[in-house]
Amino acid sequence: MSEFLSDTDFELYRKLIYDESGITFSSMNRTILESRLKDRLRETNLATPAEYYNLVRKDKEELKVMLDSVTTNLTRFFRNQPHFDALINYVLPALINLKKVSGDNKIRVWSAGCSTGEEPYTIAMILKDKLPPAFTAEIVASDISLKSLMVGKMGFYTDSRIVGIPDNYLGRFFDHKNDGYQVRDELIKMIRFDYHNLKHDSGLRNIDIVFCRNVLIYFDEAAQKAVIDRFWDAMAPKSYLFIGHSESLFGMNTRFEFLKTDWACLYQKNI
Ligand SMILES: C[S@@+](CC[C@H](N)C(=O)[O-])C[C@H]1O[C@@H](n2cnc3c(N)ncnc32)[C@H](O)[C@@H]1O
Repeated sequence: MSEFLSDTDFELYRKLIYDESGITFSSMNRTILESRLKDRLRETNLATPAEYYNLVRKDKEELKVMLDSVTTNLTRFFRNQPHFDALINYVLPALINLKKVSGDNKIRVWSAGCSTGEEPYTIAMILKDKLPPAFTAEIVASDISLKSLMVGKMGFYTDSRIVGIPDNYLGRFFDHKNDGYQVRDELIKMIRFDYHNLKHDSGLRNIDIVFCRNVLIYFDEAAQKAVIDRFWDAMAPKSYLFIGHSESLFGMNTRFEFLKTDWACLYQKNI
């Protein structure tokens, strides 16, 4: 039996969070929700979950803060290296060949659910290193967590967070400062950090590569399908979609083609 949320409160919060973000809480992760809400109650000086619920229903800004507080933002540089091997050895060569024919020399990437920026900065380092000089790249990095986006925009990571970055990239793209590393401007300029809730259309179009890794695990099947359909609309023909290595579109009715490369599995909008 739960001490903090009654079953009715839990149901109200569960539904609100799902409707607003797609994030799905079940009885399995109820305690996580409770501990995050407890913190918010303390910070807003409210006494009961019902009072806080009334606040988030009236106040759009507090709703954003609440949604931010229930997200899980765990990430790291070069997370799941095989994805980046597939990017370097399969996706980029294919896109470069395609674009040489069309004459479009820009690669457009979306890191959807970018958390504190480690994923888009990893992509930016690879693109800077591997793209031919005639090519440019533009990365949109979006998340529902405003706190995480602020960290990403700053581009400063403490010593313990830079593990996984190859030494040559660390030397080339970061400056060592006090107890951490500052991303250099040339990378920061490649990325546009933006608040975006995957529940809604992003308005992005013609994207060549989408990374949406370790985000869909927090959604139920219906919410996952809705997000995947919106990616389809945002993506260019012959574009590529990376999802987390523990995530899959198997059994989902989507138009994406499964692609097994020598390095990792991914999906293609193959039209
Ligand atoms: C575990 S992190 C994954 C970060 C990175 N993609 C990676 O794989 O390392 C999941 C991120 O998804 C974000 N997220 C969850 N629901 C979202 C939604 N509805 N819209 C946008 N971002 C969302 C969270 O805020 C969190 O930062």
